[in-house]
Amino acid sequence: MCGIIGYIGQKPAQKILLDGLRRLEYRGYDSSGMATYLEHKKAISIRKISGKVKSLESLLEKKPLFGSLGIAHTRWATHGEPNRINAHPHLDCKEEIVLVHNGIIENYKELKDELIKEAHQFRSQTDTEVIVHLIEKFHKDSSLEEATRRAVKRLKGSFAIAVISEKEPDKLIGARFQSPLIVGLGERENFLASDIPALLDYTKEVIFLEENEIVVLKKDKIKITDFEGKIIERQPIRINWTTEEAKKLGFKHFMLKEIYEQPKILEGILNRRVKELDIFFEELRIKEQDFLKIKSIYIVACGTAYHAGLVGKYILEALCNLPTSVEVSSEFRYRRHLIDKETLVVAISQSGETADTIASIREAKAKGAKILSVCNVLGSSLTRESDGVIYTHAGPEISVASTKAYTAQLAILYLFSFYLASLRGLISKEEIKFYLEALKGVPEKQNQILSNLNTVIKIAKRHSHFGSFLYLGRNINYPSALEGALKLKEISYIPAEGYPAGEMKHGPIALIDEYRAVVCICVESKVYEKMISNIQEIKSRQGKIIAIATQGDERIEEFTKEIIYIPKIDEFLSPLLVALPLQLLAYHIAVKRGCDVDQPRNLAKSVTVE
Ligand code: G6P
Repeated sequence: MCGIIGYIGQKPAQKILLDGLRRLEYRGYDSSGMATYLEHKKAISIRKISGKVKSLESLLEKKPLFGSLGIAHTRWATHGEPNRINAHPHLDCKEEIVLVHNGIIENYKELKDELIKEAHQFRSQTDTEVIVHLIEKFHKDSSLEEATRRAVKRLKGSFAIAVISEKEPDKLIGARFQSPLIVGLGERENFLASDIPALLDYTKEVIFLEENEIVVLKKDKIKITDFEGKIIERQPIRINWTTEEAKKLGFKHFMLKEIYEQPKILEGILNRRVKELDIFFEELRIKEQDFLKIKSIYIVACGTAYHAGLVGKYILEALCNLPTSVEVSSEFRYRRHLIDKETLVVAISQSGETADTIASIREAKAKGAKILSVCNVLGSSLTRESDGVIYTHAGPEISVASTKAYTAQLAILYLFSFYLASLRGLISKEEIKFYLEALKGVPEKQNQILSNLNTVIKIAKRHSHFGSFLYLGRNINYPSALEGALKLKEISYIPAEGYPAGEMKHGPIALIDEYRAVVCICVESKVYEKMISNIQEIKSRQGKIIAIATQGDERIEEFTKEIIYIPKIDEFLSPLLVALPLQLLAYHIAVKRGCDVDQPRNLAKSVTVE
């Protein structure tokens, strides 16, 4: 939800800010803008425009911005439609202060009324504009830093902001409350950004701001304080992501590149975490005794991570003998639940910045539960607030639709379940050996799927005109069906629904006719025969079946010609393979329909507001 970037240094700010915006565009892309301070004019200049960062780029080609101090923003609209006026940066009345914001100001209405009474003139319909007017009000009799501090103390909601002022052009100020903000440290230059990829070309030394903190960046130093002005000392951490990882590397879309990265990522996870029969999680931080006290597990997550959590329930209950519930974070956070000191809450999140997931762990923590997060982004808010972390180490995921983070989350859930089951004495060395051997074979099998694309592409072409899809799966592949349907609807805008195949008779069967495409996950498993019965029922009602089946299964050919085969695998691990043809199918259908795969309409990668 909105990406912000700021720069202070000696280089031309425009290029750095534009590069950063391109990397942050996954956070929102309905309008964008930039402001820089021009030394020779002693004034701030602004360019903003509706549409994607490309539009801003064209505008800047015609009307460049000069200077070595600036801020920029790519927007995902909440208050006010995505037009030029509502695009950030926003200005105060005298056009001396500019500000960009990520988050939502919940009390903006009362603040706006108050400021209007004091003769402030508003230009936009955004909630953001109140912040810059508040800073203006306080800047009259205090420094920019102090004015920002006084302003943010009046705000309710969530925010990460970056501010510059003509009156103090030697500094860039940032502040955060419940929206991410990162400081990047360079040589006689410093940066502010919503996320790491924006900074990778320039620095790998970063400091994550925490809640209620303000940072003042100058060219050669930074100062962090809390909202009361108390100085905070914090060491930077070094990011191990490479710039290359955040580029498309010849792939048409980030999504495709990320789909193709999956075998390598799984290999990396296994190399890092498994030594012989032992499993290592270096940042786990939760003691073995605490894991032994656990009586139940709650998994909280959103979107794709929630689907990984659903697979996690099957795995954890099968191996660890612990009742495991999975809930979308936005539901979990407002419900009364039976959580106590003997509950382990596992929060799964690619970004570690999803507002509802963070709020959920706060709820759970207050009830005494231990919090373990499974997360991809080093040092993100979720990881800092959790008792323990297992990083997925999947590298930066840029495409809005999550792919590689999902299979990496699954891999971690398998390994964590082996670890926990072994700690609780519920799994033998032989069983662990069996599963680890099988897991080690998965990257090769994933590669086989990825190198055998023709069938998927043909099926995608033949079905791209269908008006709706139903995805059916059973048992551990029921969540795979949900994830397959989510992928398709996210990027192709075709209504798609995932269902447990056994529930078909309780409703979805009414939808089946010759216009309905039905993706049936029918891989070798103990529920294979049951799936075949479902497929028979769909066929007799003329539904168009696309089957995901196991290589060598000839029986399935009786029911459909549209079959995507995956290599033979134990049912228990099969979600790690099934995900790939479903991702590819969604991808190729979306490409065929001419959709913007990496930046689907209305979506944002990181949902940092409720
Ligand atoms: C958004 C993204 C999804 C993602 C979900 C959860 O909806 O578009 O791809 O699965 O947020 O994000 P998280 O970072 O918590 O995994």
